Amino acid sequence: MAKQTSERATTAINPARQGGDICRIALIGFGTVGRAVAKILCESGAPSLRLTHICNRNVQRKKQDWVPADVVWTDDIESVLKSNVDIVIELIGGLNPAEQILRKALESGKSVVTANKQLIARCGPDLLQLAASKGCQLEFGASVAGGVPVIPALRTGLCGDRLHGIAGILNGTCNYILSRIENARVPFSEALEEAQARGYAEADASEDLDGGDARAKLAILALAGLRTRVEPESIRARTIRPVDAVDFDYAADLGCTIRQISRADLKEGTLFADVGPCLVPSDSPFGRVQRNLNLVLTSGQYGGDMAFLGAGAGGDPTAVAVVSDVMFVAQGLAGGKRDVASYVSTPGISSDFETPWYLRFFVRDQPGIVARLAQILADHHLNIDSLLQKPGFEKASLPFVITLEPCHDSQLHPALERMAGLDFAIRPCLCLPILR
Ligand SMILES: NC(=O)c1ccc[n+]([C@@H]2O[C@H](COP(=O)([O-])OP(=O)(O)OC[C@H]3O[C@@H](n4cnc5c(N)ncnc54)[C@H](OP(=O)(O)O)[C@@H]3O)[C@@H](O)[C@H]2O)c1
Repeated sequence: MAKQTSERATTAINPARQGGDICRIALIGFGTVGRAVAKILCESGAPSLRLTHICNRNVQRKKQDWVPADVVWTDDIESVLKSNVDIVIELIGGLNPAEQILRKALESGKSVVTANKQLIARCGPDLLQLAASKGCQLEFGASVAGGVPVIPALRTGLCGDRLHGIAGILNGTCNYILSRIENARVPFSEALEEAQARGYAEADASEDLDGGDARAKLAILALAGLRTRVEPESIRARTIRPVDAVDFDYAADLGCTIRQISRADLKEGTLFADVGPCLVPSDSPFGRVQRNLNLVLTSGQYGGDMAFLGAGAGGDPTAVAVVSDVMFVAQGLAGGKRDVASYVSTPGISSDFETPWYLRFFVRDQPGIVARLAQILADHHLNIDSLLQKPGFEKASLPFVITLEPCHDSQLHPALERMAGLDFAIRPCLCLPILR
């Protein structure tokens, strides 16, 4: 029985594969994740997996004595792609030359495993089609939520359901910063500096803070789980930069905390999607996620809600996801024939969710402020749910909050534009959805 399984695996992976049960693996990119992948592969002792090539620019400085002597170290990517390897692991990141590497590998019938979110978010559907047309596999389990096996779950364990919603904490940097402000009430700038000092945030953290990283991951989740093709740039991204320590005080009064949430709901051919800071109940799964962890929740028509929590980054957890993909391909579990035809749906895209809202103002105190704001809200048929004002702040810079009953984003937006012109406002109004 075991023999039959391994024979099937041998033919399913790569028609060009000739070497019996041995699956030859090339690793391109020997950085944080690549090194950890090599370590696991070298230590695994799996007789059917053989690391044959490690490729990196200026590779001499990368050599390690724990790598078996018969592994070829090279900086010549072309020679790797022309070799007889069965699986190429791409871990250099970025769009170029990663896209060309993946295309060439797939064109030549080699299966590919990658952790590259930028590439999969932009070219995933096309690359999946290419892989299918060549009878090989493209796996990208580490591209979202690092070591949390949510992509394999969506592509395999939950593919029998009809998923209609995915929401997640997908950016560990933002979650570190927000949970740090929550717990220590430090200013945003201090929490960011700490994240940078600990290596959780880059010197230029714009991609993380302004939502670019999370929306690329949301596009991949929408591809794998909702079977929709969506350009990351078409998903609205709101920055977490204006979130202030005082917002956690007001959120706490509402039984909530603040997290960067990425959400996508598929309704009648439209994908409602948004990335940005939201109020979430403190005792909810999202509210309880601390530090740089990731959490993904899925909603399915038949299976209901599922949760996936764990380390969203780091060399070792991410390497586990990469090696798991490699083993999946090597075992031929998918037989090189995943159903990519269902990935062609291209829905309309909208951010017009209907939610309650949190509006936080910083004002120079004067009589009549609340009356003027209330008038604008009334003019736009928006109902106030509560008004919160904590004592003890300077009148020159007074924060207070209005919460609104549920309304659509599109209904609120014109009111916010009118509020932006008010003379007493000393900062733009911070407007956050409240997710219940
Ligand atoms: N790190 C994580 O926690 C994590 C989590 C999830 C997903 N990922 C994804 O995993 C991938 C790898 O990330 P990483 O953190 O390992 O990155 P990294 O530490 O920067 O490693 C990238 C490696 O690729 C090499 N490289 C870059 N461009 C190359 C080129 N054109 N030709 C040859 N070699 C090249 C780099 O060489 P040099 O040493 O010369 O720069 C470096 O050794 C990325 O797609 C990333 O988004 C990472």
